[in-house]
Amino acid sequence: MSETVSIDLGERSYDILIGQGLLDAQAPWRDLPRAACAVIVTNDTVAPLYAQRLQQALAPHYARRLVIELPDGEAHKDWNSLNLIFDRLLAEGCDRKTVLFALGGGVVGDMTGFAAACYMRGVPFVQVPTTLLAQVDSSVGGKTAINHPRGKNMIGAFYQPQRVVCDLDTLDSLPPRELSAGLAEVIKYGPIADPAFLDWIEQNIGALMARDKAALAHAVKRSCEIKAAVVGQDERESGLRAILNFGHTFGHAIEAGLGYGEWLHGEAVGCGMVMAADLSVRLGLMPAEFLERLRQLIARAGLPTVGPRLGAERYLELMRVDKKAEGGEMRFVVIESLGNATMRPAPDAVVRDVLDACTR
Ligand code: NAD
Ligand code: GLY
Repeated sequence: MSETVSIDLGERSYDILIGQGLLDAQAPWRDLPRAACAVIVTNDTVAPLYAQRLQQALAPHYARRLVIELPDGEAHKDWNSLNLIFDRLLAEGCDRKTVLFALGGGVVGDMTGFAAACYMRGVPFVQVPTTLLAQVDSSVGGKTAINHPRGKNMIGAFYQPQRVVCDLDTLDSLPPRELSAGLAEVIKYGPIADPAFLDWIEQNIGALMARDKAALAHAVKRSCEIKAAVVGQDERESGLRAILNFGHTFGHAIEAGLGYGEWLHGEAVGCGMVMAADLSVRLGLMPAEFLERLRQLIARAGLPTVGPRLGAERYLELMRVDKKAEGGEMRFVVIESLGNATMRPAPDAVVRDVLDACTR
């Protein structure tokens, strides 16, 4: 049984299918763009687990099915990996109707989406996310990118997939640390959009950590509903969509400051949300209990709540190149009231206080 969340973007609208057994089912792969060739882009960890099954599921619809295996890891979210995709597509004579299938986590999804946006000026692609983080966040909404040594996700495009297929069974093989990283993005949706969902996560964090499928199904569905509603109103982040980056300004600085791959993205976001909650309290927007509540939930999800001591200057330098910065002024997503987030500048002195309190 699967559930469907729709994202309404006019002619770029699509469905997000959520359920168990979807990889081996027929329905999720019907009525996609027709082509002679389907190309599964994945990595050397996910390919042995799931690529053959996806190839089989696609067999009735595409005469040729190729698999491109990229090296695994955030450190490989770069031009070299992107070129591996282009080189193979060209070497195999893939035409402009070729459909790409991103099978993997957010790294594979972001890179495949960017490759799809660029190859022959745009080919269709489908997201088949296999991490919790990708199922609740990165596969939805059309942000695609690679990293630049000077900043994360700095080179990319908005490019929507044709469909997102979230098979919850793929989460069975996910390492526990990656499950926790995904929970960071699930938790994010509570404070920014839905206090009742925050209550629910607190009550069900044990079930989520134990990979209870009913709990995961609800978490993925509600997360996708919230993300779809936000992206449906502000696809290209002219304003509202920035709330989805709660915790990310601090988080991206942690990732870049330590070197990509040292902390997982979700770990950096989890800790970044503690910092952003601390900032919300220091700016007088939220009571201190909110910070403690969020800190406890993030810790229960197995995530770090104290940031690395990179030094305030280094944090500030890294945060000034964040995509939300304008004219060198840092801007942060803060919580104004539970379920209501906005973006604001913050005085350097207050940010320094946050860094002092939240790093060790
Ligand atoms: P990831 O893609 O690196 O996957 C995490 C690890 O799990 C990898 O080693 C991967 O090979 C492995 N893996 C994937 N599926 C597996 C499975 N089913 N079983 C076993 N192992 C599996 O990391 P992620 O957390 O999925 O994604 C993080 C990336 O997503 C970052 O680059 C981040 O910038 C990006 N992101 C993008 C958006 C967006 O809107 N586009 C949103 C959030 C995050
Ligand atoms: N993950 C942030 C966004 O999609 O906008």
